[in-house]
Amino acid sequence: MDGLVIEHLSKSLGGRVVVDDLSLRVAPGDLVCLLGPSGCGKTTTLRMIGGFLESDSGTIAINGKDVTTVPPERRPTAMVFQNYALWPHMTVFKNVSYGLRLRKLAKDVVEERVVAMLRLVNLAEKRDRHPSQLSGGEQQRVALARALVLEPDLLLLDEPLSNLDAKLRVGVREEIREIQQRLGIATVFVTHDQDEALTISDRIAVMSGGRIEQYDDADGLYRLPRTSFVASFIGVMSTMPGRVGDGGFLLGASTAVVACPALASSPGIEAGVEWSVGVRPEDVRVQAGGEPTASVVKEIPHGHFKELVLRLDGDGSTALRAYVSSETPSTGRVSVSFARALLYRDGHLVHEVAASAPVEAAIGVSRAGVAP
Ligand SMILES: Nc1ncnc2c1ncn2[C@@H]1O[C@H](COP(=O)(O)OP(=O)(O)O)[C@@H](O)[C@H]1O
Ligand SMILES: [Mg+2]
Repeated sequence: MDGLVIEHLSKSLGGRVVVDDLSLRVAPGDLVCLLGPSGCGKTTTLRMIGGFLESDSGTIAINGKDVTTVPPERRPTAMVFQNYALWPHMTVFKNVSYGLRLRKLAKDVVEERVVAMLRLVNLAEKRDRHPSQLSGGEQQRVALARALVLEPDLLLLDEPLSNLDAKLRVGVREEIREIQQRLGIATVFVTHDQDEALTISDRIAVMSGGRIEQYDDADGLYRLPRTSFVASFIGVMSTMPGRVGDGGFLLGASTAVVACPALASSPGIEAGVEWSVGVRPEDVRVQAGGEPTASVVKEIPHGHFKELVLRLDGDGSTALRAYVSSETPSTGRVSVSFARALLYRDGHLVHEVAASAPVEAAIGVSRAGVAP
Protein backbone atom coordinates (compact mmCIF):
# COMPACT_ATOMS: atom_id res chain seq x y z
CA MET A 1 0.00 0.00 0.00
CA ASP A 2 1.13 3.56 -0.69
CA GLY A 3 1.62 6.03 2.12
CA LEU A 4 2.79 5.08 5.59
CA VAL A 5 1.91 1.69 7.06
CA ILE A 6 2.91 0.95 10.64
CA GLU A 7 2.16 -2.49 12.04
CA HIS A 8 2.43 -3.66 15.65
CA LEU A 9 5.14 -1.18 16.57
CA SER A 10 6.46 -1.42 20.14
CA LYS A 11 9.22 0.26 22.11
CA SER A 12 10.36 0.10 25.72
CA LEU A 13 12.54 2.79 27.24
CA GLY A 14 14.00 2.73 30.74
CA GLY A 15 12.23 -0.58 31.42
CA ARG A 16 8.79 0.83 30.55
CA VAL A 17 6.62 0.17 27.52
CA VAL A 18 6.36 3.58 25.81
CA VAL A 19 4.84 2.53 22.48
CA ASP A 20 2.58 -0.47 22.76
CA ASP A 21 1.62 -2.53 19.70
CA LEU A 22 0.76 0.53 17.64
CA SER A 23 -0.63 0.20 14.11
CA LEU A 24 -1.40 3.17 11.86
CA ARG A 25 -1.96 3.97 8.20
CA VAL A 26 -1.46 7.36 6.62
CA ALA A 27 -2.81 7.67 3.09
CA PRO A 28 -0.75 9.53 0.47
CA GLY A 29 -1.39 13.26 0.69
CA ASP A 30 -3.02 13.10 4.11
CA LEU A 31 -2.05 15.05 7.19
CA VAL A 32 -2.40 12.91 10.30
CA CYS A 33 -1.93 14.20 13.83
CA LEU A 34 -0.68 12.11 16.70
CA LEU A 35 -2.56 13.77 19.54
CA GLY A 36 -2.27 12.97 23.21
CA PRO A 37 -1.11 14.22 26.60
CA SER A 38 2.56 14.71 27.39
CA GLY A 39 4.39 11.41 27.83
CA CYS A 40 1.95 9.25 25.84
CA GLY A 41 4.61 8.21 23.30
CA LYS A 42 4.09 10.63 20.40
CA THR A 43 7.72 11.71 19.96
CA THR A 44 8.96 8.14 20.41
CA THR A 45 6.61 6.99 17.64
CA LEU A 46 7.72 9.82 15.34
CA ARG A 47 11.40 9.12 15.98
CA MET A 48 10.87 5.49 15.00
CA ILE A 49 9.11 6.55 11.78
CA GLY A 50 12.06 8.83 10.97
CA GLY A 51 14.60 6.14 11.86
CA PHE A 52 16.20 8.03 14.76
CA LEU A 53 15.18 5.32 17.17
CA GLU A 54 15.07 1.58 16.60
CA SER A 55 11.83 -0.25 17.36
CA ASP A 56 11.76 -3.36 19.58
CA SER A 57 9.22 -5.02 17.29
CA GLY A 58 6.83 -4.22 14.48
CA THR A 59 7.28 -2.88 10.97
CA ILE A 60 7.24 0.48 9.19
CA ALA A 61 6.69 0.73 5.43
CA ILE A 62 6.63 3.85 3.27
CA ASN A 63 5.11 3.64 -0.21
CA GLY A 64 5.31 -0.12 -0.16
CA LYS A 65 8.95 -0.31 0.95
CA ASP A 66 9.86 -1.75 4.36
CA VAL A 67 12.10 0.83 6.07
CA THR A 68 12.06 -0.68 9.57
CA THR A 69 15.85 -1.07 9.68
CA VAL A 70 16.83 1.68 7.20
CA PRO A 71 18.88 4.57 8.70
CA PRO A 72 17.27 8.03 8.75
CA GLU A 73 19.33 9.53 5.93
CA ARG A 74 18.21 6.75 3.60
CA ARG A 75 14.52 6.98 4.44
CA PRO A 76 12.21 9.05 2.23
CA THR A 77 11.34 11.16 5.28
CA ALA A 78 12.23 14.62 6.56
CA MET A 79 11.74 15.78 10.12
CA VAL A 80 11.10 19.20 11.61
CA PHE A 81 12.11 19.30 15.25
CA GLN A 82 10.42 21.19 18.06
CA ASN A 83 13.31 23.63 18.51
CA TYR A 84 13.86 24.06 14.70
CA ALA A 85 17.59 23.14 15.06
CA LEU A 86 18.64 25.78 12.53
CA TRP A 87 22.34 26.50 12.15
CA PRO A 88 22.83 29.94 13.70
CA HIS A 89 25.96 30.78 11.70
CA MET A 90 24.32 30.04 8.33
CA THR A 91 22.03 32.27 6.33
CA VAL A 92 18.49 31.23 5.48
CA PHE A 93 19.67 30.16 2.03
CA LYS A 94 22.54 28.08 3.44
CA ASN A 95 20.28 26.45 6.03
CA VAL A 96 17.75 25.42 3.42
CA SER A 97 20.30 24.33 0.80
CA TYR A 98 22.43 22.30 3.23
CA GLY A 99 20.82 18.92 2.56
CA LEU A 100 20.93 19.42 -1.21
CA ARG A 101 24.60 20.40 -1.10
CA LEU A 102 25.28 17.21 0.89
CA ARG A 103 23.68 15.33 -1.96
CA LYS A 104 26.18 16.96 -4.28
CA LEU A 105 23.57 18.40 -6.64
CA ALA A 106 24.75 20.90 -9.27
CA LYS A 107 24.92 24.47 -8.00
CA ASP A 108 22.26 25.85 -10.33
CA VAL A 109 19.87 23.01 -9.44
CA VAL A 110 20.36 23.77 -5.74
CA GLU A 111 19.80 27.47 -6.36
CA GLU A 112 16.63 26.82 -8.33
CA ARG A 113 15.09 24.42 -5.81
CA VAL A 114 15.95 26.54 -2.77
CA VAL A 115 14.62 29.71 -4.34
CA ALA A 116 11.37 27.96 -5.27
CA MET A 117 11.04 26.61 -1.74
CA LEU A 118 11.76 29.98 -0.12
CA ARG A 119 9.10 31.49 -2.34
CA LEU A 120 6.65 28.80 -1.23
CA VAL A 121 7.19 29.58 2.46
CA ASN A 122 7.23 33.31 1.78
CA LEU A 123 10.85 33.93 2.71
CA ALA A 124 12.39 34.77 -0.66
CA GLU A 125 13.33 38.28 0.51
CA LYS A 126 15.05 36.99 3.64
CA ARG A 127 17.44 34.51 2.05
CA ASP A 128 20.57 36.30 3.30
CA ARG A 129 19.42 36.80 6.88
CA HIS A 130 20.66 34.73 9.79
CA PRO A 131 18.19 32.88 12.07
CA SER A 132 18.70 35.42 14.89
CA GLN A 133 17.36 38.12 12.54
CA LEU A 134 14.08 36.27 12.03
CA SER A 135 10.88 36.04 14.05
CA GLY A 136 9.86 32.72 15.60
CA GLY A 137 7.32 32.11 12.85
CA GLU A 138 9.92 32.81 10.16
CA GLN A 139 12.43 30.47 11.78
CA GLN A 140 9.74 27.80 11.80
CA ARG A 141 9.19 28.33 8.08
CA VAL A 142 12.93 28.01 7.42
CA ALA A 143 12.90 24.66 9.25
CA LEU A 144 9.91 23.60 7.17
CA ALA A 145 11.60 24.69 3.92
CA ARG A 146 14.77 22.84 4.87
CA ALA A 147 12.76 19.64 5.28
CA LEU A 148 10.58 20.08 2.19
CA VAL A 149 13.39 21.01 -0.20
CA LEU A 150 14.60 17.39 0.06
CA GLU A 151 11.29 16.35 -1.54
CA PRO A 152 10.54 13.64 1.02
CA ASP A 153 7.63 11.22 0.59
CA LEU A 154 6.72 11.74 4.22
CA LEU A 155 7.05 14.88 6.34
CA LEU A 156 7.42 14.47 10.12
CA LEU A 157 6.69 17.38 12.45
CA ASP A 158 7.19 17.21 16.22
CA GLU A 159 5.19 19.92 18.00
CA PRO A 160 6.41 22.42 15.39
CA LEU A 161 4.45 25.33 16.86
CA SER A 162 5.14 24.94 20.55
CA ASN A 163 7.74 27.72 20.64
CA LEU A 164 5.40 30.29 19.10
CA ASP A 165 2.98 32.50 20.99
CA ALA A 166 -0.70 31.59 20.80
CA LYS A 167 -1.70 34.11 18.17
CA LEU A 168 1.14 33.28 15.80
CA ARG A 169 0.49 29.56 16.24
CA VAL A 170 -2.89 29.77 14.55
CA GLY A 171 -1.46 31.61 11.54
CA VAL A 172 1.54 29.31 11.10
CA ARG A 173 -0.52 26.14 11.46
CA GLU A 174 -2.79 27.34 8.66
CA GLU A 175 0.27 28.06 6.52
CA ILE A 176 1.70 24.61 7.18
CA ARG A 177 -1.62 23.00 6.24
CA GLU A 178 -1.83 25.06 3.05
CA ILE A 179 1.71 24.17 1.96
CA GLN A 180 1.16 20.50 2.85
CA GLN A 181 -1.98 20.40 0.74
CA ARG A 182 -0.43 22.27 -2.15
CA LEU A 183 2.47 19.79 -2.29
CA GLY A 184 0.18 16.85 -1.51
CA ILE A 185 2.77 15.47 0.87
CA ALA A 186 1.84 12.82 3.44
CA THR A 187 2.53 14.26 6.88
CA VAL A 188 2.62 13.06 10.47
CA PHE A 189 2.19 15.99 12.85
CA VAL A 190 2.71 15.51 16.58
CA THR A 191 0.84 17.76 18.99
CA HIS A 192 -0.71 17.76 22.45
CA ASP A 193 -3.06 20.59 21.43
CA GLN A 194 -6.51 19.29 20.43
CA ASP A 195 -7.49 22.54 18.78
CA GLU A 196 -4.43 22.34 16.53
CA ALA A 197 -5.15 18.69 15.68
CA LEU A 198 -8.85 19.17 15.00
CA THR A 199 -8.34 22.14 12.69
CA ILE A 200 -5.56 20.93 10.38
CA SER A 201 -5.86 17.13 10.13
CA ASP A 202 -7.42 14.76 7.66
CA ARG A 203 -7.36 12.21 10.45
CA ILE A 204 -6.25 12.18 14.07
CA ALA A 205 -4.78 9.34 16.11
CA VAL A 206 -5.62 10.01 19.75
CA MET A 207 -2.93 8.37 21.89
CA SER A 208 -2.80 7.37 25.54
CA GLY A 209 -0.23 5.19 27.25
CA GLY A 210 1.56 4.29 24.03
CA ARG A 211 -1.60 3.10 22.29
CA ILE A 212 -4.00 4.59 19.80
CA GLU A 213 -7.37 5.04 21.48
CA GLN A 214 -9.17 6.16 18.34
CA TYR A 215 -8.21 6.97 14.76
CA ASP A 216 -10.79 9.17 13.13
CA ASP A 217 -11.49 12.53 11.55
CA ALA A 218 -12.30 15.56 13.70
CA ASP A 219 -16.04 15.13 13.33
CA GLY A 220 -15.97 11.44 14.28
CA LEU A 221 -13.82 12.10 17.35
CA TYR A 222 -16.14 14.81 18.53
CA ARG A 223 -19.45 13.12 17.76
CA LEU A 224 -18.62 9.58 18.74
CA PRO A 225 -15.63 9.30 21.06
CA ARG A 226 -15.19 5.53 21.32
CA THR A 227 -13.58 5.49 24.75
CA SER A 228 -14.01 7.47 27.97
CA PHE A 229 -10.46 8.75 27.53
CA VAL A 230 -11.23 10.28 24.13
CA ALA A 231 -14.53 11.62 25.45
CA SER A 232 -12.77 13.49 28.22
CA PHE A 233 -9.79 14.56 26.08
CA ILE A 234 -11.63 16.01 23.07
CA GLY A 235 -13.92 18.95 23.71
CA VAL A 236 -16.14 19.40 26.75
CA MET A 237 -18.21 16.46 27.95
CA SER A 238 -20.18 16.13 31.19
CA THR A 239 -19.88 12.56 32.42
CA MET A 240 -21.92 11.06 35.25
CA PRO A 241 -23.15 7.68 36.40
CA GLY A 242 -26.78 7.06 35.48
CA ARG A 243 -29.56 4.66 34.62
CA VAL A 244 -32.39 4.76 32.10
CA GLY A 245 -35.95 5.03 33.37
CA ASP A 246 -39.27 6.88 32.82
CA GLY A 247 -38.27 8.18 29.39
CA GLY A 248 -35.11 9.79 30.67
CA PHE A 249 -32.05 9.41 32.83
CA LEU A 250 -31.66 9.08 36.57
CA LEU A 251 -28.25 10.59 37.15
CA GLY A 252 -25.97 10.31 40.17
CA ALA A 253 -27.93 10.62 43.39
CA SER A 254 -30.60 12.78 41.77
CA THR A 255 -34.19 11.69 42.05
CA ALA A 256 -35.36 13.92 39.20
CA VAL A 257 -35.70 12.36 35.75
CA VAL A 258 -33.77 14.19 33.03
CA ALA A 259 -35.93 13.76 29.96
CA CYS A 260 -34.37 12.43 26.76
CA PRO A 261 -36.95 12.08 23.96
CA ALA A 262 -34.41 10.28 21.74
CA LEU A 263 -34.57 7.28 24.11
CA ALA A 264 -37.95 6.43 22.55
CA SER A 265 -36.20 5.72 19.25
CA SER A 266 -33.27 3.92 20.86
CA PRO A 267 -34.39 0.36 21.53
CA GLY A 268 -32.28 -2.30 23.19
CA ILE A 269 -30.81 -0.26 26.04
CA GLU A 270 -30.86 -2.40 29.16
CA ALA A 271 -32.95 -0.80 31.91
CA GLY A 272 -31.68 -0.63 35.46
CA VAL A 273 -28.05 -1.01 34.37
CA GLU A 274 -25.61 1.67 35.45
CA TRP A 275 -23.90 3.52 32.60
CA SER A 276 -21.39 6.25 32.42
CA VAL A 277 -23.51 8.88 30.67
CA GLY A 278 -21.72 11.48 28.54
CA VAL A 279 -23.40 14.65 27.27
CA ARG A 280 -21.96 17.48 25.19
CA PRO A 281 -22.88 20.98 26.44
CA GLU A 282 -24.71 21.80 23.19
CA ASP A 283 -26.94 18.74 23.68
CA VAL A 284 -28.24 19.91 27.06
CA ARG A 285 -31.56 21.76 26.77
CA VAL A 286 -32.34 24.25 29.51
CA GLN A 287 -35.79 25.72 30.11
CA ALA A 288 -36.98 28.23 32.63
CA GLY A 289 -40.55 26.87 32.62
CA GLY A 290 -41.83 23.39 33.42
CA GLU A 291 -40.95 21.17 36.35
CA PRO A 292 -37.53 22.34 37.62
CA THR A 293 -34.92 19.58 37.89
CA ALA A 294 -31.73 21.57 38.41
CA SER A 295 -30.20 24.79 39.69
CA VAL A 296 -27.88 27.12 37.85
CA VAL A 297 -24.75 27.46 39.98
CA LYS A 298 -22.59 29.40 37.55
CA GLU A 299 -22.96 31.38 34.38
CA ILE A 300 -19.94 31.89 32.13
CA PRO A 301 -20.28 34.35 29.23
CA HIS A 302 -18.52 33.41 25.97
CA GLY A 303 -19.73 36.34 23.88
CA HIS A 304 -22.07 34.85 21.33
CA PHE A 305 -23.27 32.12 23.73
CA LYS A 306 -23.10 31.40 27.42
CA GLU A 307 -22.17 28.38 29.45
CA LEU A 308 -24.23 27.29 32.41
CA VAL A 309 -22.99 25.03 35.18
CA LEU A 310 -25.94 23.12 36.60
CA ARG A 311 -26.53 20.97 39.67
CA LEU A 312 -29.24 18.35 39.44
CA ASP A 313 -31.69 18.27 42.33
CA GLY A 314 -30.66 15.85 45.07
CA ASP A 315 -27.18 15.37 43.63
CA GLY A 316 -24.25 17.33 45.01
CA SER A 317 -21.48 15.83 42.91
CA THR A 318 -22.43 16.24 39.26
CA ALA A 319 -21.64 19.47 37.45
CA LEU A 320 -23.53 19.49 34.19
CA ARG A 321 -22.41 21.98 31.55
CA ALA A 322 -24.79 23.51 29.02
CA TYR A 323 -24.26 25.97 26.17
CA VAL A 324 -27.23 28.25 25.64
CA SER A 325 -27.76 31.38 23.61
CA SER A 326 -26.83 34.63 25.28
CA GLU A 327 -30.48 35.64 25.29
CA THR A 328 -31.68 32.59 27.25
CA PRO A 329 -32.77 33.82 30.66
CA SER A 330 -31.04 31.72 33.29
CA THR A 331 -32.96 31.83 36.51
CA GLY A 332 -31.90 29.87 39.57
CA ARG A 333 -34.20 26.93 38.89
CA VAL A 334 -34.52 25.30 35.48
CA SER A 335 -35.69 22.11 33.85
CA VAL A 336 -33.09 20.12 31.95
CA SER A 337 -33.35 17.61 29.14
CA PHE A 338 -30.88 15.90 26.80
CA ALA A 339 -31.14 15.99 23.01
CA ARG A 340 -28.38 13.40 22.73
CA ALA A 341 -26.28 11.25 25.04
CA LEU A 342 -23.51 8.67 24.84
CA LEU A 343 -23.49 5.60 27.09
CA TYR A 344 -20.20 4.05 28.16
CA ARG A 345 -19.42 0.88 30.06
CA ASP A 346 -15.94 -0.18 31.18
CA GLY A 347 -14.52 2.83 29.37
CA HIS A 348 -16.03 1.96 25.98
CA LEU A 349 -18.87 3.51 24.02
CA VAL A 350 -21.85 1.14 23.87
CA HIS A 351 -24.84 3.28 22.82
CA GLU A 352 -25.45 6.54 21.06
CA VAL A 353 -28.81 7.91 22.15
CA ALA A 354 -29.83 10.29 19.38
CA ALA A 355 -32.88 11.10 17.31
CA SER A 356 -30.90 9.76 14.36
CA ALA A 357 -27.55 8.02 14.42
CA PRO A 358 -26.36 8.60 10.87
CA VAL A 359 -22.93 7.04 11.07
CA GLU A 360 -23.82 3.87 12.93
CA ALA A 361 -22.77 1.56 10.11
CA ALA A 362 -19.38 3.18 9.83
CA ILE A 363 -18.38 2.84 13.44
CA GLY A 364 -20.21 -0.24 14.64
CA VAL A 365 -22.09 1.59 17.39
CA SER A 366 -25.81 2.07 17.07
CA ARG A 367 -28.76 3.13 19.06
CA ALA A 368 -29.32 -0.55 19.72
CA GLY A 369 -25.76 -1.05 20.84
CA VAL A 370 -22.49 -2.36 19.45
CA ALA A 371 -22.92 -4.37 16.29
CA PRO A 372 -21.88 -8.02 16.72
N1 LIG B 1 15.47 7.86 26.49
C1 LIG B 1 14.48 7.59 27.34
N2 LIG B 1 14.66 6.81 28.43
C2 LIG B 1 13.66 6.52 29.29
N3 LIG B 1 12.40 6.97 29.14
C3 LIG B 1 12.15 7.75 28.08
C4 LIG B 1 13.14 8.10 27.13
N4 LIG B 1 12.57 8.88 26.19
C5 LIG B 1 11.27 9.01 26.53
N5 LIG B 1 11.01 8.34 27.66
C6 LIG B 1 9.70 8.23 28.32
O1 LIG B 1 8.80 7.68 27.41
C7 LIG B 1 7.52 8.26 27.56
C8 LIG B 1 7.03 8.80 26.23
O2 LIG B 1 7.88 9.83 25.82
P1 LIG B 1 7.57 10.70 24.51
O3 LIG B 1 7.45 9.78 23.35
O4 LIG B 1 8.63 11.75 24.45
O5 LIG B 1 6.16 11.31 24.85
P2 LIG B 1 5.35 12.55 24.18
O6 LIG B 1 6.12 12.99 22.97
O7 LIG B 1 4.02 12.00 23.87
O8 LIG B 1 5.28 13.61 25.23
C9 LIG B 1 7.66 9.32 28.62
O9 LIG B 1 7.19 8.80 29.83
C10 LIG B 1 9.13 9.58 28.68
O10 LIG B 1 9.50 9.98 29.96
MG1 LIG C 1 7.00 14.85 22.53
